[in-house]
Amino acid sequence: MTPNPKKSAGEHAANCVTHDMIVGLGTGSTAYFAIVRLAERIREEALRIRCIPTSERSATLARELGIPLTGFDEVLHVDVTIDGADEVDPAFNLIKGGGGALLREKFVACASETELIIVDESKLKARLGAFPLPVEVVPFGWQVTRRRLRDLGCDARFRASDNGPFVTDNGNYILDCSFRVIQDPPALERAIAGTCGVVECGIFSGLATRILVGRSDGTVEERAEPEKSG
Ligand code: 5RP
Repeated sequence: MTPNPKKSAGEHAANCVTHDMIVGLGTGSTAYFAIVRLAERIREEALRIRCIPTSERSATLARELGIPLTGFDEVLHVDVTIDGADEVDPAFNLIKGGGGALLREKFVACASETELIIVDESKLKARLGAFPLPVEVVPFGWQVTRRRLRDLGCDARFRASDNGPFVTDNGNYILDCSFRVIQDPPALERAIAGTCGVVECGIFSGLATRILVGRSDGTVEERAEPEKSG
């Protein structure tokens, strides 16, 4: 059978988890495999963990699989979060939010000691920006927010679902912002965060601590950490 790189990366990441950890559960088709493997380890090895999901989708999956959940009313610190990404650059900057879960994903990542990102090779890019950058915005006056984002140099498109607007788990909208090439991800992240009407931006700079890449031959490679500047 042909190896599935997302599955290999997800399972490898889940195998790094140890007893008594608080684990952030990412969202998307790669994180799915990590969640399934964690459930398997809970059943087969009595792995003792509690998990915080980054979306309602992942929470539902975890509950169905019998994974014990917790929340920030009980814990303030996450040991490791396992999550996917839409793009990864050599400096470990990410674009996330293709699945619309960016706000909780970033929130959980910020609370995590280790942010373990799992991707296949197609997500590795020399520069971010080919994937339209998801930005979560408040519904009130979203058209004005879109104009402000366009002033930053992108084509910002309103995300729709089959039944109307795509609404996030937090009751907000998403604007997918096509910048083509993002020269300075941390600077753009700050500029977007400072835009009135924006709740969160899908650039994750300075958050990923480990990147696991699933290869088409079934192997999983850990990317070397970028050198810190300054
Ligand atoms: C969801 C995300 C996902 O991690 C990202 O879209 C990657 O998804 P997939 O693993 O399905 O390719 O950010 O909001």
